[in-house]
This record gives sequence, C-alpha cells and structure tokens, in this order.
Amino acid sequence: MTAAPTKKRVAVLISGRGSNMTALIAAATSPAFPATIALVLSNRPDAAGLAVAAEANIPTATVDHKPHGKDREAFERVLDETLRSAGIDIVCLAGFMRVLTPWFVERWTGRMLNIHPSLLPAFRGLDTHARALAEGVRLHGCTVHFVVPELDAGPAIMQAAVPVVPGDTPTSLAARVLTQEHRIYPAALALVASGAVALDADGRIAGPPAAELTANEVLVSPPIAG
Ligand code: GRF
Repeated sequence: MTAAPTKKRVAVLISGRGSNMTALIAAATSPAFPATIALVLSNRPDAAGLAVAAEANIPTATVDHKPHGKDREAFERVLDETLRSAGIDIVCLAGFMRVLTPWFVERWTGRMLNIHPSLLPAFRGLDTHARALAEGVRLHGCTVHFVVPELDAGPAIMQAAVPVVPGDTPTSLAARVLTQEHRIYPAALALVASGAVALDADGRIAGPPAAELTANEVLVSPPIAG
C-alpha cells in the first residue's frame, strides 16, 4: 500500500466572522483535500470566527496587535513565531484586517494566499462592492491571489465573476460575491497545497497544465438576447 501524501498544514488568519475560514474548514474535512486546517489565528480576541473554529475542534490562537502599537514588525515577529511553532506550511488570509510589512510577506512568499472581494486588479483596497456599483461595472467578483508586498497586487490563482444586476446594493452584491468566495478559496488552496499551482521565481503563476485551463463558459452581463 502506498502512503497517502502528507497534507500541508494551513493557518487561517482572521479578524472577524470568518465565513471563508468556515468554508476552508469544511473543505478540509474531505479525506482527499490536500491540506489540513492546523490553526485559526486572529489579531482580535473578540473575532467571532474564533468560536466557530473552536467548535470545529481546530486549534486557535490570538496575537493581539494592540500591545505593539504602531510597531508592525514587533506584532509580526510574534505572528511569525506562532505560525512556525505550529509547523505551518501555508497561510490563508481570510478577512485579516492588518496590512503586512514586506518583512513578513517575504518570509511567506509563495506560501501565503489572500481572498479579495473584487476581480483584481480592479478595486484594490476597501469598499469594493460600493465602488463597483459606483463605476457601473456589469461584472464583479472575487480573487484568490498570492500575497506580495504591494497590497492586493499578487498574481491571481483563481477568480470568480458574478453579474451586477439592476437594483443591486453593496449588500446584495457582497452576498452574491461571498457565495463564490466560499467556492474558490478552498479550490485555490487545493491547487497550491497539492503543488499544481505555485509562484515561480519571477513572481508569476506556474501551473496548472494548459489543458485544464480551456475556457468552456463565458459570462456576459447583461446577457445577449436570443
Ligand atoms: C471577505 O469578503 C473577503 O473577501 C475579505 O474580507 C471578507 C471576510 O469575510 N477579504 P469573512 O470573515 O470570511 O466572512
């Protein structure tokens, strides 16, 4: 009998409700999933997601940023140490509301993912749904990307597009996008954890093989009649 490949140990970093964290935990319960959620870590002791993770028997940790004031690296040194002592291979940022310094990002290059609620490179930063509506875009969505020092600028691993429909509000659009976030984050993590996709030395995405990328669906919004 061949031994099953070792699963990558993933830490999910949150600051709030953790619905993407919950989706990752759910996906990782499948025996075939190439990663295990080994730690959920929050920078806020009151993050609602911590209780959800504990309920699912996932080890949790809090590294509060407040005692470190403006010293981002001091906070990140504790964060880094906590991740390393838990034997973490891959970090998934999931609504983690701290900007990370190049020092930290470079220590985890190619091993840190983020989910952003827009089709990057459009709408980097905050309030993406309100900004998408204000711009009048017809397609919006979400992106899982490798984290690089520049905010929301890393190469995309997976994206999902949704239509913007008449009468949308930032709340209705956010909900439509969030449903897709919960699909693509586990799928993108599986690609990275299995080694099918990686960040190459030039900072570009390597893999998956071209055959898997053949487009078979096109989303047009609003739809073309007939
Ligand atoms: C999500 O919209 C994610 O794209 C963004 O922050 C939000 C986190 O939501 N980075 P949740 O905590 O995963 O529910």
